[in-house]
Amino acid sequence: MAHKNLKGVRKVKKGGLKSQFKAEKEKKRKEKERRKLKVEPSQEEGLRKWQKKALRAEKSGVSPAPAPKASAAEPKREAPEAKLSKKEVRLARQQLKQHRRLYEQSGAVLLVGEGNFSFARALCEVRGSGEDIFATCLDGEAILKRKYPDALELRKTVEERGGTTLSSVDATRLHKVKQFRGAFKCIVWNFPHLGAGEKDVEKSIQQHSDLLAAFFASALLCLSEDPASAVHVAMKHGEPYKSWKIVQVAKAASEGKLQLQTVVPFSLDAWPGYEHRRTRGFHEKFSKKDSEELAKGAKVYVFARGQGVAEEEDE
Ligand SMILES: C[S@@+](CC[C@H](N)C(=O)[O-])C[C@H]1O[C@@H](n2cnc3c(N)ncnc32)[C@H](O)[C@@H]1O
Repeated sequence: MAHKNLKGVRKVKKGGLKSQFKAEKEKKRKEKERRKLKVEPSQEEGLRKWQKKALRAEKSGVSPAPAPKASAAEPKREAPEAKLSKKEVRLARQQLKQHRRLYEQSGAVLLVGEGNFSFARALCEVRGSGEDIFATCLDGEAILKRKYPDALELRKTVEERGGTTLSSVDATRLHKVKQFRGAFKCIVWNFPHLGAGEKDVEKSIQQHSDLLAAFFASALLCLSEDPASAVHVAMKHGEPYKSWKIVQVAKAASEGKLQLQTVVPFSLDAWPGYEHRRTRGFHEKFSKKDSEELAKGAKVYVFARGQGVAEEEDE
């Protein structure tokens, strides 16, 4: 064969040079698609300077982040789209943009129920600043440290970027924090879960519906007057989440003031370094799987004040 005499050409196994070239070409195409998918973080910074210090004051009853000891490593996630077809890559890009678009507008964003604060950190990266980002978790400092060893460093990065992190914030009692009332353009809870280990399925469903109801009622009081202000809740696909009936719960708990505006797919690719965490804490084996599970059709439900536009039934 001709290529046998070519210097510098490695001995080709099955299929000959032609198939090698073809494979190489395909590899390059995928590489190009992967590069295209990496959308540069928006440099747009929040316009409003918020009363950051006031929010963190002891008066609020929530504890500020302690001084961390080390800095967080840069977020890294393997490009998952390497094996995707062109169509799938296009769809992934579209979903990435859709998800990020929810956080493009200026205005204060409150994240509740954070796990290790990796979503908060990713949001700072994507927005180009942590200004106007208030990331909170339910656990107190000691429990947080035990459950999510990386939380301290991730919080440090959020704070370095100009964001605020708070622990011991109950998503069902947000309105009890004076500075939170009427303060936020957007209140976000990614993957609410009690992590109580309730075995009775019906009981667990009721507990989660109640949790969501209390959250919506409280969050409504903390949204700003801006008609575009909204509450976002990310949920995994299927049961038992479907039975929580989030759309009905939001409507009832807010007496019709919060209506489903849209539902967008939760794009893992949109948030570099975000690692989903279980309520019970990080577990080498399960936590990785949990992140993978989000790719199976997790969604973000957007509830806005006033007239809803989406007709979608409860998941
Ligand atoms: C499944 S984890 C998701 C964690 C994180 N949002 C993520 O996406 O990785 C559920 C989170 O909800 C929190 N949570 C449960 N009840 C809460 C409450 N009443 N107020 C605030 N957070 C709560 C848990 O502490 C836990 O961090």
